[in-house]
Parts: sequence; C-alpha cells; structure tokens
Amino acid sequence: MHEPLPRLRRSVLYVPASNEKALKKSAVLACDAVVFDLEDAVGPEEKAEARERLRGFLAGPDRPGCEAVIRINPLSSEWGTEDLLAARACRPDAILLPKVDGPRDILDAVAALDETDAPRSIRIWAMVETARAVLNIGAIAELGRDPAARLSCLVAGTNDIAKETRVSERAYLRPWLMQIVLAARAGNLTALDGVSNDFRDMEAFARECTEGRAMGFDGKTVIHPAQIEPANETFSPTAEEIADAEAVVGEFAKPENRFRGVVSIKGRMVERLHLEQSEALLKKARTIRKRGE
Ligand code: COA
Ligand code: MG
Repeated sequence: MHEPLPRLRRSVLYVPASNEKALKKSAVLACDAVVFDLEDAVGPEEKAEARERLRGFLAGPDRPGCEAVIRINPLSSEWGTEDLLAARACRPDAILLPKVDGPRDILDAVAALDETDAPRSIRIWAMVETARAVLNIGAIAELGRDPAARLSCLVAGTNDIAKETRVSERAYLRPWLMQIVLAARAGNLTALDGVSNDFRDMEAFARECTEGRAMGFDGKTVIHPAQIEPANETFSPTAEEIADAEAVVGEFAKPENRFRGVVSIKGRMVERLHLEQSEALLKKARTIRKRGE
C-alpha cells in the first residue's frame, strides 16, 4: 500500500501575474509552489489585464506542474469578486486571501466559492499581515480544524505587518511570527515565513531561512528565482538528521524495545514521541528523494 506523501512547501515563489516573462519562467523553476499574484505586485491600472493574462497562461501549455496558488485582491476591494471568480475558473490548488483580519474574511471567501460549487480541492491560504490578523490568529487557525473552511496554510506577510505596525526590524516581528507558527500547529496548517526583499544578498537570505526553520516554519515565501534553491536546501532534512532519525527507528524496531516507551541512544533519552518525529522526517526525506533532488 502506498502511504500519502507529505506536501512540500519549502519554497513558495510569488510571480506577478502582470509579468509575462516571469509567468513563463515559473514553469521551469524548482520551487515547491507558485503564488500567482494579482494583489500587491500588480498596479491598480494593470489589474484587469493581469487577471486575463493569468487566465490565459494557466489554461496554456506552460502551466507549472507544482502546487499553483492565486493571490486575489481583498473581496472588499473593487477587484476582489472578479478575481475570485477568475481564480476559481483556473482551478488552482488554492486561493490566497490577502489582508485577512479574522475568520469572517475566510468564511466570506468560502461562501463565495461554495456558491459556485467550486471543487473541494480548491483550498484557501490566508495572509497574516495585519495587526488584527495577529490578534485574531487563534480564531483564524481554528478554521483549520473544520474541513468545510478549506483553510490549509498561513502565510506571514512581513512587509505589510511592518508597514502597519511601524516595526522596522525583523527581530521585533519574531513574537508575532511565532504566534503564526503556534496557531498553524493548533489548526494543523502549513506555516510559511515572509519574504526577504533584498534578493541579491544571499548570505542574509540563508541566515533568514535557517532562522525561519528553527522557528518552526515549513518553508519560505520567495520573490526571486535565486532564492528557491537555498530555501529548498534549508527546509529539507540534513544528512545528519536523516541518520539520527534512522537510528531512532532502528532502536525501537529491536525486539527487546518493542514495548518500551523510552530508550537511550548514545547517552540521549529517546521516547516514542521522538520515534513519531523521526518517522515524519524520514517520510519528508523520501518525498524529496522521489523528486530526484
Ligand atoms: N518569478 C519568476 N521569474 C522571475 C521572478 C519571479 N518572481 N523574479 C525574477 N524573475 C526572472 C526575470 O524575469 C529574469 O528572467 P530572464 O532570466 O528570463 O530575463 C530572471 O528571473 C532574473 O531576474 P532579475 O533581472 O534578477 O530581476 P528583475 O529585476 O527582473 O525582477 C523583481 C526583480 C523584484 C521585480 C522580481 O523578482 C519580482 O517581481 N518578484 C516578485 C514580486 C512579488 O510578487 N511581490 C509580491 C509578494 S511580496
Ligand atoms: Mg501584503
């Protein structure tokens, strides 16, 4: 029997729907998911044209094979409803809602999708990028436990949070980013770290990826092709972690340990909860290997 493989969302690339060249390029990049953007990356005068361009692109032969997500404008904006209908027609894996303030914004989008009999396979991702979203994060994440709410992923929108709160350094955003991770775990959701704007500074980017991973994020949103590989690398299990996990699985598989709750490996206490952690890590590593990485 085949086990379901975990979804990888190590690198999630934003692609402005207004940029024909970037759209075409997205098909050949090694990111785990693409977010086609109709919102912040598209100017007000370009909105309608970008929507049509995206529709044509996703119906054509260059549609990427990875997870495809469309970020629409807020439903309360003049473009929101048309964006949602156009996005739904493109049958993406998910629709990413910007400027979510609380559960109501997600439930409104769910109602609009349900009204058009949108397939259940179309999930919702939510940007957490307003002060109210951070304050309401527990209630937002609760929706993750309700399959009818379609919610599958929380995305930190660090540029907008910084703008609204006037926080100017990532160091001071960390408590809110940790709230997002905690909420994602409570709601069984993926948590994605915010973008690094300075796409030429690869050292700073690598540091930010390492930090995001240690904070518990599943992956990083990226804005430039050069950021994909380092994000994939950082959010993949290392050879050392894989060897450790194999040792844990091997230890519990020994006949004398079959019924034991705790064992010791090289002076370290290892419990069955570590066995579960190790099995999840090995599963992720297998998924990555299957991709030929
Ligand atoms: N997706 C796909 N392709 C991209 C890309 C992206 N996000 N960003 C750059 N590229 C492509 C360029 O088209 C160029 O392609 P080419 O080699 O065929 O000419 C190549 O990668 C190199 O790009 P580069 O010249 O280094 O950058 P740029 O000046 O063209 O673009 C940005 C810089 C920041 C404008 C661009 O990366 C971008 O628009 N990023 C996404 C922004 C976004 O979506 N923001 C909203 C969410 S935060
Ligand atoms: Mg934003």
